[in-house]
Amino acid sequence: MSLFVIDNLHKAFTDAAHTRIEVLRGVSLCAEAGETVAVTGASGTGKSTLLNIIGGMETADEGKVIIDDFDVTNATAAHLAAFTRTHIGFVFQFHHLLPDLTAHENVALPCLINRITRREAFKRADEMLESVNLTTHACHLPSELSGGERGRIAVARALVMRPRLIIADEPTGNLDEHHAAGVAALLLELTRAHNAIAVIATHNPILARACDRTLRLQDGRLG
Ligand SMILES: Nc1ncnc2c1ncn2[C@@H]1O[C@H](COP(=O)(O)OP(=O)(O)O)[C@@H](O)[C@H]1O
Ligand SMILES: [Mg+2]
Repeated sequence: MSLFVIDNLHKAFTDAAHTRIEVLRGVSLCAEAGETVAVTGASGTGKSTLLNIIGGMETADEGKVIIDDFDVTNATAAHLAAFTRTHIGFVFQFHHLLPDLTAHENVALPCLINRITRREAFKRADEMLESVNLTTHACHLPSELSGGERGRIAVARALVMRPRLIIADEPTGNLDEHHAAGVAALLLELTRAHNAIAVIATHNPILARACDRTLRLQDGRLG
């Protein structure tokens, strides 16, 4: 069985005018360790909704998400929280680094939350900073980093727990072309080096093409 299986996901929302919008209408996908999958599609087609359901941040109306035999869609809140903080790494469009923590501390944070010793957490953070070529910026606050550097720190933070799955929602969305290319290359390179799976919602054609597979979300279906 594949490491990562999405089976027949359905999700509808009711908008302010009480109209039901069927955003996902039977989305299925399988991926194996080391695979990178781009999810493209026009704005509003449901890319973030899909990623949020995969990451357990939103519930599906129907269907399953299975990661490493763990059923995300049927887990209790406590099991889900424990699973996602150890098995899933997240990269967001605006990176969401904590402004009062240094780059080093931001990268170490997932390990500290998982009660890994400080010594080990900071050792892993050192290794990740090296992988994203930002050892020299370890003591910088996010406000003292460029957009591209913040993106690379977000990639380091997403991978520091060595998750099985990385979910990235428009990871290069607010970066110029040059910085976007750097963040995209590192995200893919490190996902492959860690033998993880990445599902990446993106409008960036260079990032989409560099993934092993590019799928398009349209009319509630992924193809
Ligand atoms: N919590 C919500 N309540 C109502 N409608 C929502 C909610 N979240 C998303 N939507 C709607 O679902 C559709 C898909 O949104 P989204 O997943 O953010 O698309 P994308 O990420 O592809 O731009 C949009 O029409 C959006 O307005
Ligand atoms: Mg979105």
